Amino acid sequence: MVTGGGQGIGRAIALRLAAEGAHLVLGDVNLTGCHETAQFIAEEGGAPAEVFAADVSSEEQVKNLMARALGLQDRLDILVNNSGIAGPTAPIEEITLGEWEDTMAVNLRGVFLCCKHAMPIMKVHRGGCIVNVSSVSAKRPLVQRTPYAASKMAVIGLTRTLAAEAGPWGVRVNAVCPGAVAGPRQDQILQAVSRRTGESVEQLRQKKAAASPLQTLVDPEDVAGVVAFLCLPDARAVTGQDINVSAGAVMY
Ligand SMILES: NC(=O)c1ccc[n+]([C@@H]2O[C@H](COP(=O)([O-])OP(=O)(O)OC[C@H]3O[C@@H](n4cnc5c(N)ncnc54)[C@H](O)[C@@H]3O)[C@@H](O)[C@H]2O)c1
Repeated sequence: MVTGGGQGIGRAIALRLAAEGAHLVLGDVNLTGCHETAQFIAEEGGAPAEVFAADVSSEEQVKNLMARALGLQDRLDILVNNSGIAGPTAPIEEITLGEWEDTMAVNLRGVFLCCKHAMPIMKVHRGGCIVNVSSVSAKRPLVQRTPYAASKMAVIGLTRTLAAEAGPWGVRVNAVCPGAVAGPRQDQILQAVSRRTGESVEQLRQKKAAASPLQTLVDPEDVAGVVAFLCLPDARAVTGQDINVSAGAVMY
């Protein structure tokens, strides 16, 4: 299962896992995007992907999503908690309680709910793999994005503790921390900065890329490759980790 598989990083993860032979369930509020992802999977010869509407911040909807996934396969081997929102960009005193809670609801409560309702299913078969999509913003400051950074740091705390709790059941739990990933979200961020500073989007993109040792933005497929590794038997001794996929921009 991949949440938020309707576009961006989630779509790349879904395509990669399908290429590795996974039978996918996509849960998202963006159904049109998920149907497109399912279509791409079919065109690439993957097993038919199922698409379900689910807002990960709603316990009812997450329960329903897990029940439907279980109905299809009678098991759940992989859960990728990728759904996330950027939250507000503003000094903390200008951020409303509502904006804080909305960001936490998707980025943190959503991960909690999906893990909570996936674990009983994984425990039945004494095995499974959970990958939570955090961010390098969990590790280094992202000015004016306090709710986002806090939510992503909390995901690392949840990942480590659940890894310790789930390990005896054969369930591995890891996080990936992408840096600046090329795609629609990055374009929106660069456009917003460009409006504020007057620098062109292209200049800003180059500056951002140059800030990493590999001097590049990260592609969604780069994140998907690391997620796939974490889900494969090659990573059978890897749990409780938060792995940066940031072209070296963050090294801890
Ligand atoms: N793009 C980046 O530079 C970057 C960097 C670090 C981490 N991330 C993280 O990677 C993940 C994916 O990012 P992206 O850039 O592909 O974002 P995106 O905005 O392009 O896609 C996010 C997906 O999550 C879905 N989603 C949003 N709210 C939801 C909800 N309540 N319930 C279910 N699904 C919901 C959206 O419909 C969309 O399909 C996010 O968790 C994001 O925070 C992104």
